[in-house]
Amino acid sequence: MTGVRFAGWGIAVPDRIVTNEELSRTLDTTDEWIFERTGIRERRVGGSSTLLGRQAAERALADARYQAADIDFVILATTTPDRLIPASAPVIAAELGITAPAIDLNAACSGFMYAVRVAQGLLATGHQRILVIGAEHLSRWTDWNDRTMAVLLGDGAGAAVLEASAENQILASDLGSDGSLVHLLTCEHGGTIWMDGKEIFRRAVRVMVDSAERAMASAGITADQLSLVIPHQANVRIINAACDRLGIPTEKAVVVLDRYGNTSSASIPLAVHDARETGRLANGDLVLFTGFGAGMTWASSVVRWRA
Ligand code: ACO
Repeated sequence: MTGVRFAGWGIAVPDRIVTNEELSRTLDTTDEWIFERTGIRERRVGGSSTLLGRQAAERALADARYQAADIDFVILATTTPDRLIPASAPVIAAELGITAPAIDLNAACSGFMYAVRVAQGLLATGHQRILVIGAEHLSRWTDWNDRTMAVLLGDGAGAAVLEASAENQILASDLGSDGSLVHLLTCEHGGTIWMDGKEIFRRAVRVMVDSAERAMASAGITADQLSLVIPHQANVRIINAACDRLGIPTEKAVVVLDRYGNTSSASIPLAVHDARETGRLANGDLVLFTGFGAGMTWASSVVRWRA
């Protein structure tokens, strides 16, 4: 199979910061409860999936030093497209000046990793450069009177340019789904997001651990060889519990949910960006990407980082 290389990354978040303290003015909650139970301090709210996705994509293109014309496929991972029809990916593509094929992909919080996997397949069939975006406007589908959901979610976007390469950065992946668990986290047409938080928590730890173990086994590595874990950002307690069970020190996990909350498809690229900015990624490092989401879906990849 043709190798895959991450050529550039970019993110975008709305300017508006909503702190726990601000939420506690309208909801029966406190900063202490939210931070202790989730690790979240604040989240960003605003924009749209198209706007944030386009901004993140522009930055990823600039980071990769590519132009719109260099991109031959666009995949937008989102649970919150701006409208049902048409998809948001062609709108973002058009705003960037890209006329290549462009599709939305919905795998909830596993969406970015699913999109990377689809891109990997497309690169193997002859595509050269693919823009993978994770963008969410969850605040639009949030019931701001529901303290169980409103404190968790945030808006944001992240993007990466993937290209065909002689060297393969994605050593192994494990993806899966169990649609019999649809009832655990849903948003019906015209409704707002609802979940069974306790049950999701329990299952999330299990599916992340199992998926990460399968990905590491097929990459032929063990947990102690990992330099960093880039997990989906839903709850710091989920991240810590998964790391404990995998035998990975929690200090190796990148956490950005304190600033952004759960941004679903955007959370993994937001965490990658943070790890790059803070110098936590070095050439040759082995990095585990792992996430889970509504569906349920899950996805893990072992990546050899290249600066
Ligand atoms: N402020 C204060 N109290 C609250 C709040 C709040 N914001 N929300 C709930 N409570 C109350 C509950 O009503 C409950 O009260 P009770 O004991 O009187 O019934 C108490 O706090 C404890 O609630 P629990 O649900 O047991 O709290 P828990 O420790 O399980 O934490 C949480 C809840 C944070 C939701 C946790 O279960 C969790 O993170 N679950 C996973 C969430 C997740 O990963 N979702 C994936 C989203 S993916 C996507 O696609 C968007």
